[in-house]
Amino acid sequence: MAGKDLLAVSANTKIGSVNKPVVLSTWSFGKEANAGAWETLGKGGRALDAVEKGVMVAEADPKNHSVGYSGLPDRDGRVTLDACIMDENFNCGSVMFLEHIVHPISVARMVMEKTPHIQMAGQGALAFALANGFEKKNLLTPEAEKIWRDWLKTADYAPQVNIEEKLFEISKDPLPGGPDNHDTIGMIALDASGNLSGACTTSGLAYKRHGRVGDSPIIGAGLYVDNEVGAATATGVGEEVIRIAGAHLIVELMRQGASPEAACKQAIERIVRIRPEKAKQIQVAFLALNKKGEYGAYCLRQGFSYAVRTGSEETIYKAKSVY
Ligand code: GLY
Repeated sequence: MAGKDLLAVSANTKIGSVNKPVVLSTWSFGKEANAGAWETLGKGGRALDAVEKGVMVAEADPKNHSVGYSGLPDRDGRVTLDACIMDENFNCGSVMFLEHIVHPISVARMVMEKTPHIQMAGQGALAFALANGFEKKNLLTPEAEKIWRDWLKTADYAPQVNIEEKLFEISKDPLPGGPDNHDTIGMIALDASGNLSGACTTSGLAYKRHGRVGDSPIIGAGLYVDNEVGAATATGVGEEVIRIAGAHLIVELMRQGASPEAACKQAIERIVRIRPEKAKQIQVAFLALNKKGEYGAYCLRQGFSYAVRTGSEETIYKAKSVY
């Protein structure tokens, strides 16, 4: 059952105080991303720098077909990327529907730091990136192109369930979705100074309509950080996350006293309540971290895992689910 990279699996998400710093990422591939973030966090660096560096690991990974370079394309064969970043002072930046740039998270950070804006999209975002020294690259690798061309034979589209089948061996499931079809890295971190930041980046749903933008670049949906309270991020079918302003909802629930896991659970239950039939067909997962360094997660369907790194642990946890 355990993948070779799996350090430990808990049937339960963990709630409990941890020492600062701490970094959490969605999915088991978050382990490598957390290691990238730890190079900054472990030296007492700023959470904002850590989350940018951390998710860049996933963005550059050619084996990861749901984030950045080598992401699966839309139905027209175009790789279009969404990303956002948020710091401890409500500063935030976002790019969406961005093509040809390996590290959209760094463009999002540049939008945050070098412009009076928060969101940039499409050709305008690309022109901004190129004008600021980013290089244009073909993001559609031969492997991702082959997967897309195979899909084109039927072109049967349904938003895919995100299940880490290889890890948890739960896939006798008739619903659509393949072993590696998880999407999005969301990363949230608390640094040694007690400041929170987050980053979220994705190539979005495979075979989406050209022009479709998901939750990942939407501040308050795919990511939210309030340095007084906590941070949250999302993965899964973005439309359902946007509908409830998921990450912002979770931070507000934590403000009212909910633990990170309880806040994520309430957000997931809201999705079930408002779209009960849809909720059975898809995956959505949330991950949250509070100001005390407590963390937790919850998802719609079994199969969501998340990676945690602190000074004393490096662990992949399996989240609890509704189904
Ligand atoms: N959560 C990623 C997306 O829906 O695009």
